[in-house]
Amino acid sequence: MLEKIRWGILSTGNIAGAFARDLKLLPDAELVAVGSRTQEQAEAFSKEHGIPRAHGSYEALARDPDVDVIYVATPHTFHAENTILCLNSGKAVLCEKAFAINARQANEMIDLARKKKLFLMEAMVTRHYPVIKQVRQWVEGGRIGEVRIVQATRCADGVYPPEGRHMNLNLGGGSLLDVGIYVLSFCSMFFEEPPVRVQGSAHIEECGADGQGSIVLQYPNGGLGALSFALKTKGEDSGQVYGSHGRIHVHTPVWAPTKATLMIPGEEDETVEISKEGKGLNYEAAEVMRCMREGKTESPIMPLDETLILMEIMDELRKDWGLVYPGE
Ligand SMILES: NC(=O)c1ccc[n+]([C@@H]2O[C@H](COP(=O)([O-])OP(=O)(O)OC[C@H]3O[C@@H](n4cnc5c(N)ncnc54)[C@H](OP(=O)(O)O)[C@@H]3O)[C@@H](O)[C@H]2O)c1
Repeated sequence: MLEKIRWGILSTGNIAGAFARDLKLLPDAELVAVGSRTQEQAEAFSKEHGIPRAHGSYEALARDPDVDVIYVATPHTFHAENTILCLNSGKAVLCEKAFAINARQANEMIDLARKKKLFLMEAMVTRHYPVIKQVRQWVEGGRIGEVRIVQATRCADGVYPPEGRHMNLNLGGGSLLDVGIYVLSFCSMFFEEPPVRVQGSAHIEECGADGQGSIVLQYPNGGLGALSFALKTKGEDSGQVYGSHGRIHVHTPVWAPTKATLMIPGEEDETVEISKEGKGLNYEAAEVMRCMREGKTESPIMPLDETLILMEIMDELRKDWGLVYPGE
């Protein structure tokens, strides 16, 4: 029986609750503490999820000697500050997407983790789904030949209160960082090098945040990524990987996929379908623990250098759109 890895959760919001529930699916994980900006919230969350310790500040959680790894689940604007706090306290960190609001912050986080030889990973949940592992195997095994075009869409269609994180620039709101990152990260998996050209358009809402956008990426081998994302649009949310010999359809939702089909002309279609457990956040948590047990400070599934490249792409797009977060 493996010794349990002890988790702390930093914040008590929507995804923090889902993560607390999904951790229960992993017998080698133990959720020992939560940290919130207020003692009251920390206690309510710990009661709801049966967590032994409730800290009334993020600093107190970071100092907790019984925590091995902390899941940072605050709005994007706080990821850098919260991650740096935890790393400086000697904790491994799984930090929600978007990893930071810009590449400068991401660089600082990555540099510190590497200096301290501590595990750090962007919580890009999609990459850890078993179906995505199968899709990557098909591509890496040459089943569709050379990847030529990747298409993907990620649309949310919520109604967002102005003070909430989705459309509030003070909290890093907007579609690029919230949902665009899923399709960018999806596309990036299928090309070995960073794009040589990045172009895009976004609709900037009255509040100053980007409501939706489309981008085209061009890769050194001539490959292209054509991606769209939105926060107030009903979309189909599938993904396509077109190769020189065949194609792969990642069925909706591409950011949390349970089904993919490999189509090669002259052969019978191959479909893989793997239903998910919980919300699927257990897959990324399991990867964190696998790496920690093996003494790795980075995951080969979501490498830090790739996280940084994705942040740089988003910086470049925002520069073109004139989209700046307060305090940048
Ligand atoms: N992987 C996924 O599937 C997924 C899904 C949704 C969201 N996310 C990511 O997870 C992060 C959190 O999203 P969420 O939807 O959980 O957000 P949320 O419900 O708004 O919760 C954010 C939490 O952050 C803390 N916080 C600290 N400073 C804050 C501030 N100034 N304003 C508001 N909250 C503040 C609060 O916890 P305390 O009051 O306890 O301190 C709050 O409950 C985002 O980066 C988002 O992109 C990931």
